[in-house]
Parts: sequence; C-alpha cells; structure tokens
Amino acid sequence: MQAFSAPRYGGPEVLVHAELAIPDPAPDQVRIRVLASSVNPLDWHELRGEPWLVRARGGVRRPRQTVVGSDVAGIVDEVGTEVSGIQVGQRVFGTAVGAFGPFALARPKRLAFVPDGVTPPIAASLPVAGCTALQALRKGGVESGSKVLVVGASGGVGTFAVQLAVAAGASVTGVCSTPNVELVRSLGASTVIDYTTGGLDALEGPFDAIVDNIGSMPFRRCRALLRHGGAYVVIGGPDGGSVLGPLTHLARAKLAFVFGGRRAVPFLASIESADLDDLARRVAAGTLVPVVERTFGSQEVPDAIRHVETRRTRGKVVISDVPDWPAKETV
Ligand SMILES: NC(=O)c1ccc[n+]([C@@H]2O[C@H](COP(=O)([O-])OP(=O)(O)OC[C@H]3O[C@@H](n4cnc5c(N)ncnc54)[C@H](OP(=O)(O)O)[C@@H]3O)[C@@H](O)[C@H]2O)c1
Repeated sequence: MQAFSAPRYGGPEVLVHAELAIPDPAPDQVRIRVLASSVNPLDWHELRGEPWLVRARGGVRRPRQTVVGSDVAGIVDEVGTEVSGIQVGQRVFGTAVGAFGPFALARPKRLAFVPDGVTPPIAASLPVAGCTALQALRKGGVESGSKVLVVGASGGVGTFAVQLAVAAGASVTGVCSTPNVELVRSLGASTVIDYTTGGLDALEGPFDAIVDNIGSMPFRRCRALLRHGGAYVVIGGPDGGSVLGPLTHLARAKLAFVFGGRRAVPFLASIESADLDDLARRVAAGTLVPVVERTFGSQEVPDAIRHVETRRTRGKVVISDVPDWPAKETV
C-alpha cells in the first residue's frame, strides 16, 4: 500500500510517501479499509515524539509505528482469529493504528458500527474529540439545569462539548476568539466570551462545571468561578515541558484544587464502543452535528497535520477522498 510514513520523529516534513506492506491484524484485531480519518492534536504529538512521554509507548529513538493517525471510518476487510461480532464488509468507525494510511488495525472495543445516513467523513470526525467531550461532561456531573463553562469552545473537543451539554439541558458559556463567536453561538451556547477582547475578566459564575481544553486561565480564577462542589474538568493544557507536556498541567490542577471545596478532574479519554455508538446515534438523529472545518485528500496528510498544529482549527479537520460509502461493499 502507498502511505505517508515517518521514518523518524519530527514535524510533517519528515513524512515520506512510501510503499509499505499491508498490515496483518493480530488475533484480537480487525483490519479496516480506511475511507476517512480525522486529525487530533495527539497525532502531531506522536509524529514529533513530543513530549518524551509519547516515546515511552511509541519507540524511544524512532517511531515503531511509522503511519500515524487514530480516528478512522471505513470497511472491515479482515478479522483476527479471536474476534467475534464483527464481519468483513461492515462499516465501522473508532480509533485504530495507522488511520492516515489506506489500511488500519483496530481492537473491536475501540469501534462501533456506523448507522445509516452517517458518511465516512462525518463518522471519522467523531471518535477522539466526541468521546472526550462526552466523558468530560459525564465526569463534570453535567445534567439538565447545570451551568457549564467550555474553554476552547470552537475546537474539536469544544464544538462537541457545547452541543452535548446543551442537549443535556445545561446552559453553556463558551470561550473562543472573535472569528469563532458566531460559530459557538450557533452550536447552542447562550453566552459566548471573546477571550481576545478582555471578555474573560467579565466572566461571572458560579458554574457547576468548567470544561477546559486550553489551560489558559489561572487555577485560582477557575476555582473562584465554580460553585462549592463544582468540577474543573481538565482536558488539555499548555505544552508544559518536553518530558510530560500537557500532563504537567493536569497534575498541577489536581494539586491546586486540594483545598477550597471544588474538584479538579484531570482525565484521559478512553475510546469505547458504547460512547461511539451514542455519538453516532445522535448524529444519525440530527441532534449532534459535527463541525468539519476542512477536508483534505489522502495525498495531503502532511498539510492536514500542519493545519491542526496551528491550534486554530474550527471543529474538526478530516482526511478523505470520498464523500460517501461505496455502493457495493466488496473488499
Ligand atoms: N485529556 C484527553 O483525553 C484529551 C483528548 C483529546 C484532546 N485533548 C487535548 O485537548 C486540547 C483540545 O483538543 P482539540 O481537539 O479540541 O484541539 P483543537 O481542535 O486543535 O483546538 C483548536 C481550538 O482551540 C482554540 N483555542 C486556542 N487557544 C485558545 C485560548 N487561549 N482560549 C480559548 N480557545 C483557544 C481555538 O479557538 P480560537 O482560534 O478561537 O482561539 C481553536 O478553535 C488539546 O490540547 C488536546 O491535546 C485531550
């Protein structure tokens, strides 16, 4: 197969278009013929091998897995000997290894079936960002009547978090920059704060939960904006150094909230079939509408990663050559 491959750690410029062997699934994996994928910040962290923590898993000196990419939608084309419940030819989405190539490997517990009416590019926009948003709101105890602040409301996770919180019956305040104010409002946020024009200073609580994708507000300020017992859900943070990266921020948050009666909830999302299924059903029903800023072709993988590295993405960036499923699913 032809795929972009990273023979060493580095930016998108290290990617070379190469002929590689089609990967074989392990007994507990399925192989997916990839029809669409989407880019997450994790992909460029893994490509660069930054912070160093990612090398502990991915290879210290050079990447063991040279084709990056995680979010995937496609058609199962081979099933490992120990896998049951998934068959060749079925439409699936979730997270996989090597999703920016034409074939990717995945464990069934990280996949769900794609319902009718959901295209590959839309299904591929859901896994990491959608599951993260869903789980963040759950961990923050968000329910009908909750007052929620979403910082970084216009990005991949944020655009899902705003919509899912509104759907749960919460009242949402979103934080973004001037060009994204209307977008965040259109997703259902009742108040939108423009952080570039001093809007953060005027923020008034108390909130039941803060979902923070950015880590730009001082912990003291976050604590003051929460009601007693409220939750500061930490999804992302500043770079935080070359060893642990954003995880440093997550650990600091935990320490900063030891006293004061508010909870810090740092967490790493886990991509699971039940949550994927929940997201896909909402999309099929029209109650969740992924925001796809741009779709790159499979020959433009380095550009797609570059785009997400700017940290200015509105919603999701998708990689796909097809707008819909093939008429006949033969593999
Ligand atoms: N803990 C986990 O399991 C987990 C899972 C997924 C992602 N993450 C992390 O969560 C973070 C968000 O992920 P993502 O996929 O949403 O990233 P993303 O799509 O790349 O986020 C881009 C968005 O961030 C916004 N932004 C940048 N600086 C901002 C600021 N100072 N204040 C408010 N908004 C700002 C931008 O909006 P403007 O252009 O309007 O500023 C843009 O829309 C990343 O750090 C990612 O690594 C963690």
